[in-house]
Amino acid sequence: MGTVTVRKIDDDVIRDLRISAARRGVSMEQEARDRLRSPQTQDHGSEPVESAGNKPPWRLKASMEELLALGRKLPHGEFDQKDESDRLYDYLEQHDGHSMTMSDKQILLIICGGIAAYKSLDLIRRLRERGASVRCVMTKAAQEFVTPLSVGALTAGHVFTDLFDRQDEHDVGHIRLSREADLIVVAPATADLMAKLAGGHANDLASAVLMATDKKVLMAPAMNPSMWSHPATRRNRAQLEKDGILFVGPNTGEMAESGEAGTGRMAEPLEIAAAVELLLDTRPKPLAGRRIIVTSGPTHEPIDPVRYIANRSSGKQGHAIAAALARLGADVRLVSGPVAIPDPAGVRTIHVERAEEMRDAVEQLMPADAAIFVAAVADWRAEGAADQKIKKVAGDGPPVLRMVENPDILATVGHHRKRPWLVVGFAAETQDVLKNAEAKLAKKGADFIVANDVSGSVMGGDRNRVTIVSKSGVQEWPEMGKDEVAARLAGLIAERLKTTAV
Ligand code: C5P
Repeated sequence: MGTVTVRKIDDDVIRDLRISAARRGVSMEQEARDRLRSPQTQDHGSEPVESAGNKPPWRLKASMEELLALGRKLPHGEFDQKDESDRLYDYLEQHDGHSMTMSDKQILLIICGGIAAYKSLDLIRRLRERGASVRCVMTKAAQEFVTPLSVGALTAGHVFTDLFDRQDEHDVGHIRLSREADLIVVAPATADLMAKLAGGHANDLASAVLMATDKKVLMAPAMNPSMWSHPATRRNRAQLEKDGILFVGPNTGEMAESGEAGTGRMAEPLEIAAAVELLLDTRPKPLAGRRIIVTSGPTHEPIDPVRYIANRSSGKQGHAIAAALARLGADVRLVSGPVAIPDPAGVRTIHVERAEEMRDAVEQLMPADAAIFVAAVADWRAEGAADQKIKKVAGDGPPVLRMVENPDILATVGHHRKRPWLVVGFAAETQDVLKNAEAKLAKKGADFIVANDVSGSVMGGDRNRVTIVSKSGVQEWPEMGKDEVAARLAGLIAERLKTTAV
């Protein structure tokens, strides 16, 4: 049985999909999905087919089986190999991974003066390729980093720079600028701009627009780590959050200035675009009004101030679940152990290090409608971590560590007097996966356990193969990306919560 290559698909099918998708004003992915659901509607000039079918409308990606099925319909031959379907999936992701969720939306992007302003050029492209139209305001300082010429070329429109420009004020005016947008994005948002808005100043176009708007404002801060952690910036951020301003980032990592690292890097354009997508998403939100706690990542259990016990959890699965629940409208509180990935868009993240801190944070966040325990919590901690670094003394031999048991957060919540209506645990096992998961269900007081075999490269990797174990039975899911596991799980949780009052 032959297989087709991605290049062959590129030549024919992808073009075909692209054209018919464009005609119907849907994404290529949606077009592929619709064709699979209604193969008879492959007349591309026809009226838009009913989408959705009986699948939840919020699922963003075609499943592997759907793509596999799509492959089988391809005119160039059979398409039956898993890795080929992966490649097709990747191809669709790269070329049309973003659906046109922002078509007809207008975004006002305010660019402030910071080295991260160069990333705003890419952000404009990302927003426009998702169908949004982008208008730009640049502060005076921003123009020191990127020019209105390049910004104007990318937005294909006029760039607004001056509150006192008579022509601009006559043509559009700062009030209209601020009101005509569906969303205002400030990227990069500098310490200065944050301070201005927190203090209610409006002495330039950017701040005047922000003061005049009645729309949501999303800020992507970018600054030196010392400026970000300065008490004044912390105060301003808290004030802005109170005022309803939303934030994406900043991330932790290397700064543009050589030798500087810490928290202050602007979120990547794709992360900002994802946050914008989330805010503009008007699809049904089956989890609106639900509070859901998610734990994610490993915990670090100190031995002394410089050493700790940890595990290989990356937080990818837990963070993806938090993001997927937020996309369905849930008010998600993510309690994350130390991870190297950014906080998910649209989710309030509480950072902790130790299991006991994680337990305290979770308890403080209750009551909740559901709690999903994805974190790989250390089972034990070193009894009485040393205050000072344990020294290696010649002749003394290695120190003996006495371990004590950590609180089992899932079991605590599963049997709590304020127990959430739905409690979901994970069971990462390297052997007897099902047997262990079934035993955990009762022991931990969970409604279902997501069992996964972590003997391969699951921990830290991007794919997962899970089995859902509940009192009503066992559901095996095929191997898929962690995002897809998250989306499906979020759907399942929404389904379960449907029967309870908000
Ligand atoms: O017992 P085990 O560690 O395999 O249980 C895994 C499940 O329990 C996961 O959902 C994990 O997040 C949770 N857990 C916890 N607190 C612990 C240990 C595990 O919440 N101390």
